Amino acid sequence: MTATNASPLLIAQGLCKQFGGLVAVDSADIEVQAGSITGLIGPNGAGKTTLFNLLSNFIRPDRGQVLFEGEPIHGLSPHRIARRGCIRTFQVARVLSRLTVLENMLLASQGQTGEKFSNLWFQAGQIRREERENRERALDLLDSVGLLAKAQDYAGALSGGQRKLLEMARALMTQPKLILLDEPAAGVNPTLIGQICEHILTWNREGISFLIIEHNMDVIMSLCHQVWVLAEGRNLAQGAPAEIQKNPRVLEAYLGE
Ligand SMILES: Nc1ncnc2c1ncn2[C@@H]1O[C@H](COP(=O)(O)OP(=O)(O)O)[C@@H](O)[C@H]1O
Ligand SMILES: [Mg+2]
Repeated sequence: MTATNASPLLIAQGLCKQFGGLVAVDSADIEVQAGSITGLIGPNGAGKTTLFNLLSNFIRPDRGQVLFEGEPIHGLSPHRIARRGCIRTFQVARVLSRLTVLENMLLASQGQTGEKFSNLWFQAGQIRREERENRERALDLLDSVGLLAKAQDYAGALSGGQRKLLEMARALMTQPKLILLDEPAAGVNPTLIGQICEHILTWNREGISFLIIEHNMDVIMSLCHQVWVLAEGRNLAQGAPAEIQKNPRVLEAYLGE
């Protein structure tokens, strides 16, 4: 899927966040075109993770707005934002170590009839069908990321890279339109990084858009249609990966690293 001629799926404008005296995000903008893989890069401490927290409302912005499919989402809970189709993963994968890999997947499924207590007595058949479908979907996704053999293992027994894959597969359980990935390649061995990139490309071809924070420039350059650069909480540059790679202001911002 190409990123051209598409309307923005996500637009954030003028986002600000201060922690005490520290301005972590300073009037930052970002856009993700529908169907795209968009990168978000910048030196350590630039405010990238904070920006993700603001986009998904894990942290409330001091100022600014976030539109998803043209509708404001900055007042919604992370859970509601996820239900709209915008879901994020974490820099350090958050899996529930003492649940099995499959249980971690099933916890993510949503919209089940069984969630409404009043429906329980009347729709037992439908609940059982949804549970069966969720289980099948979970097993299919685990199979596609190579974790099927680990379905009954505790998630705590997975390697760092496998946890990242589990977190991505779990995000897909919610049938999202946009996935925000915070450093999917960090701490992952090179073979697994290659696999993660292949999965992202496959899911993107299936219609899912991505916003990816990543330090590994090979990953950014090989995956992204557009790259946004943040430095000291502010927008520094945006453009095609090849332009960004040779932008003197971007190179300068990375020199101090
Ligand atoms: N919850 C917090 N409380 C105080 N300071 C924070 C908090 N989260 C992030 N920061 C600070 O905000 C700045 C940006 O951090 P972060 O968004 O994690 O950067 P990045 O992800 O680009 O490395 C850093 O100086 C960091 O120490
Ligand atoms: Mg970060």
